[in-house]
Amino acid sequence: MDNEKIIEMIEETCELPPVPIVASKVLKLVNDPNSTVSQLEEAIIGDSNMVSRIIGMANSAYYVRVHKVKTLKAAINVLGYKALANLVIAASTRQFYAKFGLVEKLLWEHSVGTAIAAAVLATEFKAVKSDEALVGGLLHDIGKTIINLSKPDDYRDIAEEVYNGNGTYFDVEQEKLGFAHSDVGSYLIQKWNFPVELGKAIYYHHSINEIDPSMMDPFQVKYICIIDVANHFTKRLGVGYREPDDNVDIGSLKSLELLGVKVSQEDIDVLTEKIAKVIEEEKSKFD
Ligand SMILES: [Fe+2]
Ligand SMILES: [Fe+2]
Repeated sequence: MDNEKIIEMIEETCELPPVPIVASKVLKLVNDPNSTVSQLEEAIIGDSNMVSRIIGMANSAYYVRVHKVKTLKAAINVLGYKALANLVIAASTRQFYAKFGLVEKLLWEHSVGTAIAAAVLATEFKAVKSDEALVGGLLHDIGKTIINLSKPDDYRDIAEEVYNGNGTYFDVEQEKLGFAHSDVGSYLIQKWNFPVELGKAIYYHHSINEIDPSMMDPFQVKYICIIDVANHFTKRLGVGYREPDDNVDIGSLKSLELLGVKVSQEDIDVLTEKIAKVIEEEKSKFD
């Protein structure tokens, strides 16, 4: 992740957006032991779109205990600082999909779908907290969005190669640009001073084989793996892709092994159906 050459190439190729201000303020307050609920509320309340997204997400099915949060203050009190910060980060990414062509629409659908899938899986597998899963899922492919915003022609060529079966995004990007969207995303998170564990989840989401669980915090391993499994479910369902992909073999993912989860094909089918249903029900809360 700190590979200087890669960072240099990213800086040369990509226009990296400035840190989302509200999220940055909220993170500072959350990390300050003397901050108050009122200060947090004040930092967010001026952004009415963000307030409604946060309340929407807080009332989602994956926060089973937290139904019927009506105000921002209630959301802060019920969720706690850390979960709130994650929802603010999640809510602040919507702006990067503002230019809504087909490419952005598919990327947004895929990100929201993966966020919801990750939150569902985090609860099912009791792996990480749903807010962590949610923000990780929503941002895992933010690097694709940045590449697309910076170099739309390159991104279209890459997407075309992938569609024609000439490799995965990860491989084709490395071949054409010298780095992958996971490099861009994790570097951006680092540059913005967003949580380190989020940056690592993004960095490793296509490099599960590089993980040495004995060298990494167990929480971090689970975080990465939940995002990877969620990403495979949305791929299987075709969320943000041109069509579903029945060839995605979720049962043999290394991430499941690292999560210590054993699932039968029947379990996978049930989970696939459940995830598809929750995505349909909840996706509008991210808009
Ligand atoms: Fe990805
Ligand atoms: Fe993805």
